[in-house]
Amino acid sequence: MIGVRNRVEVLHGVNLDMLGKRDPEHYGTLTLIELEVRVRHWARELGLEASFFSTNSEGAYVERLHQAPEVADAVLLNPGAWTHYSYAIRDALEIAGTPAVEVHLSGVDSREEWRRHSVISDLVLGRVQGKGVDGYREALELIAAELGTEEPPAA
Ligand code: DQA
Repeated sequence: MIGVRNRVEVLHGVNLDMLGKRDPEHYGTLTLIELEVRVRHWARELGLEASFFSTNSEGAYVERLHQAPEVADAVLLNPGAWTHYSYAIRDALEIAGTPAVEVHLSGVDSREEWRRHSVISDLVLGRVQGKGVDGYREALELIAAELGTEEPPAA
């Protein structure tokens, strides 16, 4: 439908491609592909169309953020460890200017000191952390509410 803003780009950062091999206490047991299957399904339920990008290269992540306004109406990002120190990614997110939600599988706010700081937190409309894969559903709900894609309740 023309004029519908429902495209969400899910941006996986450094080491997210190793899901399934990382500490299950923090990151669960799903692989990234399995996570994407769930996210795509949840997105559809919320009237969103999800696309995915994964890289271990900070420059590639920055360049994908540069393209975000052309390919997406919102971004859902988990930059992994870059969250805590990459001002390059912060600047790129600011340049993109698209609505954004930050998500972390693990409870970064209650882990090591260095994980408690996010350099993008003031640019995002919401942060979800410590809820595992279900946190992605919550992040999608925030995006759906922002873009107004959710189906009105049946009468
Ligand atoms: C993470 C948390 C980061 O601190 C960590 O470096 C990651 C994943 C998470 O999803 O919990 O790689 O972003």
